[in-house]
Amino acid sequence: MQRRAMLKGCAAAIAVPMFATGCDVLDGSAKAVDELAFDPGAFTVETKTVATFERDKKVIYQFYESVVYVAKPVDKTHQSLSVSVPVEIDGASVDASKAPILFTNSVAGYLASAVTSREPDDGDRTRNSDLALAAGYVVVEPGVRGRDLVAPDGTYFGMAPGAIVDLKAAVRYLRHNSGRVPGDTDRIVATGVSAGGALSALLAVSADSRMYDRYLAELGAAEASDVVFAAAPYCPVTDLEHADMAYEWNWGANPLRSGELDAAASRELSTAFPDYQASLALHGRNGFGPLTAGNYGDYLVRTYLEPAATAYLTALSYADRSSYLATNPWITWSGDRAGFTWPGFLSHVGARQKGVPAFDAFDLSSPENNEFGAGTVKARHFTPFSLRRATGDPGAQLDTDLPEKISMMNPMFFLRQRNSGRAKHWRIRVGTKDTDTSLAIVGNLAASLENLGDEVDAAMYWDAGHGSNEDPEDFIAWIGKVTGYAG
Ligand code: DHB
Repeated sequence: MQRRAMLKGCAAAIAVPMFATGCDVLDGSAKAVDELAFDPGAFTVETKTVATFERDKKVIYQFYESVVYVAKPVDKTHQSLSVSVPVEIDGASVDASKAPILFTNSVAGYLASAVTSREPDDGDRTRNSDLALAAGYVVVEPGVRGRDLVAPDGTYFGMAPGAIVDLKAAVRYLRHNSGRVPGDTDRIVATGVSAGGALSALLAVSADSRMYDRYLAELGAAEASDVVFAAAPYCPVTDLEHADMAYEWNWGANPLRSGELDAAASRELSTAFPDYQASLALHGRNGFGPLTAGNYGDYLVRTYLEPAATAYLTALSYADRSSYLATNPWITWSGDRAGFTWPGFLSHVGARQKGVPAFDAFDLSSPENNEFGAGTVKARHFTPFSLRRATGDPGAQLDTDLPEKISMMNPMFFLRQRNSGRAKHWRIRVGTKDTDTSLAIVGNLAASLENLGDEVDAAMYWDAGHGSNEDPEDFIAWIGKVTGYAG
């Protein structure tokens, strides 16, 4: 559609005589050449062996490397994607032309990311990619700009909202190339871990929002929809402007590994959480009723933590389970179910990962302070609380460009708007010992989606830390199920 429209525009323009073969030389408005056309022939053939639950599988796949996805890139290294297309699995040829597309970003810490080659396994994210390939799915790995990119003149060019704009541009590129790029562009499943998990959720809920238009236009992004079908965020570090209060509400009583916490600031922040939580007007799963700061601990225990502990303990041998229960007397075991209290759980988790405030650091030292920098300013405050405390000015206001950028980075903003183009199929995972953010931040993302009626598979991994991925094969099966792809 997109391409035909462009050609038609050109045909009108060439009513005047012209000398060149293309018509893009006449003026910028009439381009016959589709600069964003994917070249289906530009691949190398690669082989890898993927250890699956059943057995090792030998996968032969076509690999498209460093495909620039915008017409006017500011950074080709990061604004490019790779595509992997399985053609043979264990000697049997496969046709992935209509397969789901696993769209997996490798963002960590809001830093720039690039996928320039198929490295051997470097962790859980590539584990998902490899399993997806071995299941016959297409894997797309977009690079995106990040907060660390700085031009020679000292201007940062990958801060908010760079990463999400780039992810959107990459999805638009894929959809623009429907039929040329292998895979079903109506079955894109976005995933990522931590900051990358947050971005995958944001991508999926902010679908086709006009807020990003001017940024996308500047890059020459394809004029196509950036809707994705499903999203699978792992430990999403998100809702950044409310993450400090949610963190102190959750981990406020947990000690640092070393050093003292600012107890007064912790108390002030946690005191602000109930109003925020109430403003979301969320209801808990399974008829729990309104979610409040007062009952959220019990909600997490009942909905996520006890089921996670139960699954963990059930999978242990009798001897290992007995030994675990002996060292953790705060857990009761009824024979098939773990039971405990929220305070019991909190003291089990022990030391917290972050200081006070966890995100908008008074000394501007957090990754998020840097993410919300702008121009030549490396880091800024993005909450009135920290801005006012750090400057000593109780009337200080955030820079005027920030409120919009903060919203553009927050899936909760789009969920409150009930953006109807959002992905309707969700799979959310986080470890119970992940103290990089509050468990309520992840719980609120899940509850928001559930309350909107979306299909949400949200669960926690018992005793697992930041970035864990303990059921990758289930994820692959889930993709097949929600997309309806036979494989
Ligand atoms: C990541 C971790 C953090 O604690 C954070 O604040 C932001 C990002 C990450 O692992 O991507």
